[in-house]
This record gives sequence, C-alpha cells and structure tokens, in this order.
Amino acid sequence: MSKPFYITTAIAYPNGRPHMGHAYEAVTTDVIARFKRLDGFDVRFLTGTDEHGLKIDQAARAAGQEPKAYVDAMVEPFRALDDQLGINFDRFIRTTDTDHKALVQELWRRMAANGDMYLGRYEGWYSVRDEAYYDDAELVDAVDSAGNPVRLSPQATPVEWTVEESWFFRLSAYQDRLLALYDGQPDFIQPVSRFNEMRSFVAGGLSDLSVSRTSFSWGIPVPDGAETGPSHVMYVWLDALANYLTGAGGLDGQWWPADLHVVGKDVVRFHTVYWPAFLMSAGLPLPRAVFGHGFLLNRGEKMSKTLGNVVDPSEMATRFGVDRLRWFLCREIAFGDDGSYSDEAIIERTNADLANGIGNLAQRSLSMVAKNLGGIVPAAQGEGGDSEAALHASFTALTQAYFAAMNAWALHKALEALMGLVSAANGYFAENAPWALAKTDTARMAQVLRATMDATRRIVLLAQPFMPESTSRLLDQLGVAPDARDFSGFNTIVAAGTQLPAPEGVFPRLTPEPA
Ligand code: MSP
Repeated sequence: MSKPFYITTAIAYPNGRPHMGHAYEAVTTDVIARFKRLDGFDVRFLTGTDEHGLKIDQAARAAGQEPKAYVDAMVEPFRALDDQLGINFDRFIRTTDTDHKALVQELWRRMAANGDMYLGRYEGWYSVRDEAYYDDAELVDAVDSAGNPVRLSPQATPVEWTVEESWFFRLSAYQDRLLALYDGQPDFIQPVSRFNEMRSFVAGGLSDLSVSRTSFSWGIPVPDGAETGPSHVMYVWLDALANYLTGAGGLDGQWWPADLHVVGKDVVRFHTVYWPAFLMSAGLPLPRAVFGHGFLLNRGEKMSKTLGNVVDPSEMATRFGVDRLRWFLCREIAFGDDGSYSDEAIIERTNADLANGIGNLAQRSLSMVAKNLGGIVPAAQGEGGDSEAALHASFTALTQAYFAAMNAWALHKALEALMGLVSAANGYFAENAPWALAKTDTARMAQVLRATMDATRRIVLLAQPFMPESTSRLLDQLGVAPDARDFSGFNTIVAAGTQLPAPEGVFPRLTPEPA
C-alpha cells in the first residue's frame, strides 16, 4: 500500500474573478501534489471556494442577486482556471455543499461538548474584506483617498465597529497548548519567518474568538437553534477551515490529518492559531504542516482594482502557454517570499530555461538520432570515459538536491538543481561534439547521443510536476513508455532499438511584443 499524502490549497472567496495570486497558489500546490504522486504517494488534493459570510453576502447584494445564485455563477471562472492550468485536484469543494454543512455543525457540537463555546456579546473591530476580528492595538490610523480618517487592519483593509450577540470560542484557554505545539513541532508553520511571527502573536496572549454572527443570515446555522435562538450563523472562518475535514471524508475521514495546507501569508494566522485550537477542542488530530507562501506582485506593485493592474491569469496562460506560466511562477519566485511578474520577465525566463535550455538539449540530440540513426535508439555501449563519469557524478548530486528541495517545498531550489542538470547535459553534448563524431567515429557518436538522451529523459521526468503537458510530449519523443514515467522508473532506460517519432520543437522562443 502506498503512503497517503493529503494536500490542500486555501479556498478562494468567489466575490470577483480569480487573479494571479489564486493561480499561483493553485499551481504551486498542484506541483507538490504531482511530485508526490510521481514519488509513489497516494495523493489526495483538495481545492475549492469559500462561499459564506458577510463579504459574499454584500457582494451578492451589490450585484442584485441572492447569495446562492451569485456564488453559483461566480465559482465557474475558478473551476475554468483550474481546468486550464492543469490543476489535478481530487475534489473541488464549495462550502455550500451539503456534506460540508452537516460536518461543520457536527464539529461545532463537538467543540461545544468540550465546554469551549459560550454566549456573549461581541463589541469590537471587524474587517469584512479579511472576514477577521482585530484588537485595537493591531490597527493603524490612516486617511482614505477622499481624505477621511479611517482605521486599517494589518492587511490595510478598513475595519468597522461591530456590536452583536455572539457565541464565543474559548481560544484564550489554548495559548499554552499552541505554544507547546509550535515548540514541539517547529515544522508546523513554514517558512521559519512565519513561524516566528505566529509564535510571538500567540505568546502575546489570546482573546476568546467570536464564532457566530447575528446581523446577517448567509452562513451555516449554529446547531441546536431552539436553545440558542435560531438566528446565529457561524463565523465564516470556522466554516471555511472545516472544509479540510469535509474534503478528508468527514470528521473521522480516511485522509485526515492533512500533510500540508498551502496558504498565502495573509491567512497564516487562521490556519496556525484558530484551526489547531478548533481541532484540539474537537479532539481531532492536527495537520502536519502549514506553508505560508508569499504574495505575487505585478511589476513590484500590489495588485488592486484601484491601481487597475489586476491581470487575468487565464489570459496570461493563453498568451504564454500554461507550462511556461507554471514554470515561471515556480522558478522565478522563491517559494515563501513575495515575487513579481511581468510579460518581459516571463519571456526572458522561459526563453533562457526552456527554449535555450531544456528544449535545445532535447532538439539537438533527438534531431541527430533522427538524422544519423534513422530515429532508432542506439544500445548503451560500455561505461564510457571521464566525460561520462563526470556527467554521472553531477547527475547524482543534482538529482539528490532536487529531491531534497522538493521534499522541503523549496520549489525554486528544485528548479535550480534541475537547470544545473540541463547545463551539465548541454555541456557534455558540446564537449563531445557528436556532430563531428558522425564523420569520424559513429560508434562513439551513438554512445554520446545515447548518454545525452538518457540525461534528457531524467531531466524531463523531474520537470513533469511543473510542466505536465510539454513533458508528456517530450517523453513521447524520447520513447519513454507511459508506465516508466514515475520516479520508480528513473533508472529504466529506453530499450535499444526503440523507433522514435520525428522530433518536434516543444518550446519555441518567444519574442517580446513591441511596446
Ligand atoms: N477564503 C479565504 C481562505 C479560506 S481557507 C480556509 C481567502 N480567500 S482569498 O480568495 O482571499 O485568497 C485565497 C488564497 O489566495 C489565500 O491563500 C491568499 O493568501 C492567496 N492570495 C490572495 N492574493 C494573493 C496574492 N496577491 N499573491 C499570492 N497569493 C495570494 O483568503
């Protein structure tokens, strides 16, 4: 039986069209999921949409629609984007799904049975944009574009004073257990910068958390309404976080606990403070790790409707190609840090790595095999000499570096190692000049082509999580059988005598559009 691996993205608010930040999170999570599948794990990959709460309710009203009709329409571009980007999830969960509603109510009952819920009155600040409560000390005074004074959350979103009857969760009682969790399991929050931030937030003391709302009704009703008054709906983050349990198959679901929650840095607090406390309260196991990735910036600037720099990821994928976009996002941005994108950067990066790097390597060797050997894979002859030994040594070291980086979720480092493999293979090819050997020593030429093809095969196998479509075409051209494409087939060389199809360029060079 292969080992299970359960991975999730955050679920997006469908109150607008998906943006590059959503595409980034979907792609990076999909890359990890694909890597784990190729590495022999039994992967469960969950993504979806977060559809309740005041923010969606207000957006629906502004659009003159009922919330459910509104989200039914708004969720479609999210699904379409996943489809276009090759996001290979196992379930697309919507928090309006029936099984999810039932699960959240059961989770609530378990937390209440543990004595952690009490009725009170919330008086304090709330940001609808973040769907978050903030303490006074966390806010800053600023002025809006019209010059009026406003108070802003740490995410620079406006807050409003809110007073209403509410259920509270005894979060304050979990401070010590949370600190013990962080100290005993430092990998729980990654990367380490987010760990430090969250640890000091919790060490500073926790207030109890308001977990229901009474001023609107677009949410999952708090159970046992007869006792509590029927009008409470659950705080949207309690509802949303529980999606990971629903997607695991329920409160006692076979996939729980999650191995990795991939989320953006702005929502790390919810995932590493509230979420483990809710789970402890309900007596459930905790996820193994939360990775907080950075924010994507458009030419170094925050994407915002006001700045008019919100780019449609679907349009980008159509223009540059899905695999180029996926490659760029994982290669250019250190996973965990903020990063910037622009058309020029995408073109430059993918021309260098894909057209000149991997594509060139594959083309040069495959076209020589086609021309000089009738497209028939030559036999691997002998051990080779120093040049083969050097190639072998750098492949061993860099392949190890690739796996170590992937298993530490350092996607950018894995691709750095992969590009190291590409230059080692390109260097080997240039040094041995098989085009010259074609005239002088065809047996040695065949040996060099064979070694280059095998190096290319390994590179393309490792590139699969990042570029599923183009690597599949390259593996076809290299004669790699469909059942020899996961990492267990890494050392399975293509049989001598295999007839290859005519080679065809997979990564044509892009030319920048004139400004
Ligand atoms: N609905 C909540 C998450 C609930 S998870 C139980 C939410 N939704 S969101 O649509 O605002 O964001 C979805 C994900 O995209 C979050 O992980 C968020 O951090 C991420 N990003 C939003 N903007 C981003 C960028 N500009 N760059 C990278 N990721 C960003 O938060």
